[in-house]
Amino acid sequence: MFFHGTSTVNEKGHLQIGGMDTVALAKKFGTPLYVYDVALIKERARGFRKTFEELNIKAQVAYASKAFSSIAMFQLVEEEGLSLDVVSGGELYTAIAAGFPVERIHFHGNNKSPYEIEMALKAGIGCFVVDNFYELSLLEDICRNLNTKTQILIRVTPGIEAHTHDYILTGQEDSKFGFDLQSGQADEAIKLINTFEYVELLGIHSHIGSQIFETKGFVMAAEKLFEKMKTWKEELSYTPKVVNLGGGFGIRYTAEDDPIPVSQYVVEIVEAVKKKVEELDMQMPEIWIEPGRSLVGDAGTTLYTVGSQKHVPNVRKYVAVDGGMSDNIRPALYEAKYEAILANRVNDINEETVSIAGKCCESGDMLIWDIELPKASADDILAVFCTGAYGYSMANNYNRIPRPAVIFAEDGKAELVVKRETYEDLIKLDVPLKQVLNQK
Ligand code: LLP
Repeated sequence: MFFHGTSTVNEKGHLQIGGMDTVALAKKFGTPLYVYDVALIKERARGFRKTFEELNIKAQVAYASKAFSSIAMFQLVEEEGLSLDVVSGGELYTAIAAGFPVERIHFHGNNKSPYEIEMALKAGIGCFVVDNFYELSLLEDICRNLNTKTQILIRVTPGIEAHTHDYILTGQEDSKFGFDLQSGQADEAIKLINTFEYVELLGIHSHIGSQIFETKGFVMAAEKLFEKMKTWKEELSYTPKVVNLGGGFGIRYTAEDDPIPVSQYVVEIVEAVKKKVEELDMQMPEIWIEPGRSLVGDAGTTLYTVGSQKHVPNVRKYVAVDGGMSDNIRPALYEAKYEAILANRVNDINEETVSIAGKCCESGDMLIWDIELPKASADDILAVFCTGAYGYSMANNYNRIPRPAVIFAEDGKAELVVKRETYEDLIKLDVPLKQVLNQK
């Protein structure tokens, strides 16, 4: 069994996270319940920052908030001195509501609306990561109307696609994101920005993928960017002050995953950049990164209550829990794999292989196929590990299942940071037919 962060077994044989008995948490707050190990989030955040500091590199570590966004999470990110990457007006609104310093927010997205751009400018956004020509012109126009200047990075696609373990170098990058490097789109963008009055080009951005276990892809991307930067310096007299290499650092979901420590990604990225800077006789830029999953993924655990079971003789046994694809769509969407234990009987030996089913009306609503567990019965608490990234943030109301509550656990204290959705919440936005209303 593999425990992440502060997770341990207490004297009752219960799973404990952040010094809190998870069985007691399930009883108090109900299930499904996301429980975050705050100490582990802090450890990861400090790991990234400290490594840059030790290397004496000017850097920004921006939390990719799409992994899990809430007011409390943003406050924690702010306390840890990180910056924030948002991709929508909704994430930005949450950050502002959390009191996050807006100048440390980077606004991403491949189709920002004029409303979102204006909202960000009025709030004093730190920078935009501009994705395409339409957005460039839109941004310059809106800035002119508001008579305000802004700083941007341009997102470029370096022609490297990471498929977790291997990398594909594509001549013509087929991606909906960013300015293509090969075909000269990025060069055209720089020339266009040079003619602008309100938009200043601070640097470049690239993100090659997610759940990546090796440093090779990042190093390859950095090398390609710097080769291009050499041309920009010579031909356009432009040198980026900031190079943002995105996120994507992999985590351990199951025994099949073997990630390297976060510090190693940073060290190897910095080494590659330094080497290129020397080789091409350039100035060392600031290095920014955007980890999402690696900051919160293994810090999150979902607690479920076991309900019905179905045994198909000689085929398999289904054990159903009170959540499923409504709180974790990743198995259905990506065939993502997870590990789990019975949180109220951690020391019991595994007796059978079962598959964990969700409660949604959909055959594909399976959380885990073929997992070894003790013989589970109704009311046992199942803890699924590593649900901290893209769990709550991708949760949905399929079958009108309310979204779970979220708890932050640390040092023997538990704080409710997102309330459980109620049935009233579910119908809050519904508008009854006028006809029906009038009849009443
Ligand atoms: N920066 C950019 C520009 C991104 O597009 C992403 C993720 C990140 C940073 C953060 O990547 P991370 O460190 O979390 O891997 N829903 C999928 C993941 C989608 C990732 C999208 N972009 C999943 O559940 O695996």
